[in-house]
Amino acid sequence: MQRIWELLVFLLFIKLVYTSAYWRPSDPFPDSSGRYCLSWRLAVEANNVRAWRTVPTQCLPHVENYMTGGQYEHDLNFIIEHIESYIDTIQVSDDGLDAWILDVDDTCISNVLYYQGKRFGCDPFDPVGFRTWALRRGCPAIPAVLRLFNNLVDRGFKVFLVTGRDEETLGQATLDNLHRQGFIGYEKLILRSAEYRGQSAVAYKSEIRSQLEGGGGEDGGYRIWGNVGDQWSDLEGNCTGNRTFKLPNPMYFVP
Ligand SMILES: *[C@@H]1O[C@H](CO)[C@@H](O)[C@H](O)[C@H]1NC(C)=O
Ligand SMILES: *[C@@H]1O[C@H](CO)[C@@H](O)[C@H](O)[C@H]1NC(C)=O
Ligand SMILES: [Mg+2]
Repeated sequence: MQRIWELLVFLLFIKLVYTSAYWRPSDPFPDSSGRYCLSWRLAVEANNVRAWRTVPTQCLPHVENYMTGGQYEHDLNFIIEHIESYIDTIQVSDDGLDAWILDVDDTCISNVLYYQGKRFGCDPFDPVGFRTWALRRGCPAIPAVLRLFNNLVDRGFKVFLVTGRDEETLGQATLDNLHRQGFIGYEKLILRSAEYRGQSAVAYKSEIRSQLEGGGGEDGGYRIWGNVGDQWSDLEGNCTGNRTFKLPNPMYFVP
């Protein structure tokens, strides 16, 4: 009897040790100071970690604090300042072909309020929930990017808003949302039309940019000076633009 109890206690101890965070192989530097989550976030932003599906659960407090505690806004303002000093070096031509590309979600307008209800990306992507949120047209502008947008329009850039959102289901809602938030005066909002459904963001966005640059059609001959997005897939592929700028987003990854 005594030995059976000893064995049970021993097995319980082993189970506790192996299920505690300290033994998770995905977490090579477990500690309570947030070093792991800082390393994770840096690796994600640098595109060293790819195709991740959810934020590691132990990083919920870290990502929540980053997104809502002021550092995210600070990082955005810092990047936009650098973009604006790049813009200062560009001589905008009067042929009307100097172009700039902006992504929409978490570039022009913010989904942080939605992701707050999804544990800042610790929960897996919920396409139905996201569509319901997007249809409400309530994404607030990201103030630093709205400032950049107005600056680009004032200087005579043709601004193209290029989004992976589905044109048929979210086209009108996206247009309304952008206008309500002050995104007015751009050249064109380009959404994912039926022919691009199921394509990766890199392929779809590359094709759109290549049409803008390509001579031939009505929509051609543009010089893409800059390209801003919160996903690497906004910035990879062909015709990426003379300079690309990655905005922070530790909440989700779009392949
Ligand atoms: C991009 O950079 C190259 C090299 O600096 C320059 O020749 C070109 O005019 C720039 N602009 C565009 C839109 O390609
Ligand atoms: C980039 O262009 C090359 C050559 O046209 C093409 O083969 C390739 O598929 C393109 N890549 C993307 C991501 O569109
Ligand atoms: Mg985006």
